[in-house]
Amino acid sequence: MIRKEGIKGKEKMLKKQNKKEQKKEKEQKSSPNLHAEDAATSTILVTGGAGFIGSHVCEKLLEEGHTVVSIDNYNDYYNPEWKRENIAEIQNRIEKNDGKGGSKKFFAYEGDILHEDQLRKIAKTHRIHVIVHLAARAGVRQSIENPLLYTKVNINGTVQILNFARRAGIKNIIMGSSSSVYGVQTKTPYKETDVVEEQISPYAVTKRVGELLASTYHQLHHLNMVCLRFFTVYGPRGRPDMAPYKFTKAVLEEKEIEMYGGGETKRDYTYVGDIAKGVFKAVQFLETQNRKNQEVQNQGIFEIINLGQGRPIGLKSFIQVVETEVGKKARLKQVPPKPGDVPLTFADIRKAKKLLGYEPHVEVQEGMKSFVAWYQNERGERGKEQEE
Ligand SMILES: NC(=O)c1ccc[n+]([C@@H]2O[C@H](COP(=O)([O-])OP(=O)(O)OC[C@H]3O[C@@H](n4cnc5c(N)ncnc54)[C@H](O)[C@@H]3O)[C@@H](O)[C@H]2O)c1
Repeated sequence: MIRKEGIKGKEKMLKKQNKKEQKKEKEQKSSPNLHAEDAATSTILVTGGAGFIGSHVCEKLLEEGHTVVSIDNYNDYYNPEWKRENIAEIQNRIEKNDGKGGSKKFFAYEGDILHEDQLRKIAKTHRIHVIVHLAARAGVRQSIENPLLYTKVNINGTVQILNFARRAGIKNIIMGSSSSVYGVQTKTPYKETDVVEEQISPYAVTKRVGELLASTYHQLHHLNMVCLRFFTVYGPRGRPDMAPYKFTKAVLEEKEIEMYGGGETKRDYTYVGDIAKGVFKAVQFLETQNRKNQEVQNQGIFEIINLGQGRPIGLKSFIQVVETEVGKKARLKQVPPKPGDVPLTFADIRKAKKLLGYEPHVEVQEGMKSFVAWYQNERGERGKEQEE
């Protein structure tokens, strides 16, 4: 009798233990984290993956062996067809390159980050390890015209991504922030520890709020967060509202360039290929930290890191670079500085070098050579037709 009861008790205990283990296994399955064995094959969700920076990031991550899932709503901030072409180009490239299952590594969804059900559907199909959150309304000047749209997409959208990550058990998030959070600084170069309390455009505010939200979620839920402050990114697939695109187009078409102020503003132009490498390095950083550091596994990581070139160039010199690459003289029209534009961006990239091993390689002359060549092929006459 006693023995029977003993066996029954043992059985009960075993059942309980089994249940516990099953529950743990289930939790681990639904809480994908980054570990050494996952490193080469982890699946990364890129929001805004069809955009300028997003499409380069998708390409880089695929090149490094990751599975990449893109979500983008192909909005009409600029021609959505160009965003679809970015995706098609990636798909063509992977199919050409490997011929065996490459297409099984890249998935592009049309969807809105503001709709959690769409994000959840993706998480049901793919076991996401890392989110690279780049979807946003970009552009300082438009944010002054339409601040509500910017706060909705950039702030509510970020909360949506953070909530989704928490609920889906995705612990690793890299967020695209911006040099604009520095506002007007007197001390240069801009360091991550500088006080950043005064932004001068709604766009910049949304980016700073994104960082603060990331920090809060890290503290509350121990998520691993890296906020990357990008500095004036340029290169192939560049946005048509940005200076490299506008200047190249104007010089080629022999139209006037509007030069704000006396041309003394300076920008830390950073080539998009270097930025994509920086984002990949941030993914690697999360992987290694997760692997070697128990405290990180318990408490999570939070870092803000500048990704820039570290060598600002004056507006006049930049226009000269465009002239050289296009092979034509620019026609300049001086107009007053625009509100929201900062006089200078200048990244201190020592933290990125130290923590990520980031090293920008492309000088502005070389980068603009690639940009102008791309523009002439992809936008030139065809781009003009599509814009009209
Ligand atoms: N380009 C730069 O110089 C620069 C500098 C600093 C920071 N950033 C940041 O980098 C990120 C990418 O910028 P970009 O220059 O590639 O701009 P982009 O406009 O080319 O890319 C953003 C992408 O996000 C998508 N998107 C916007 N709202 C969405 C939504 N609600 N749901 C799903 N997708 C949505 C857009 O369709 C677009 O494809 C942004 O977060 C931007 O703030 C860019």
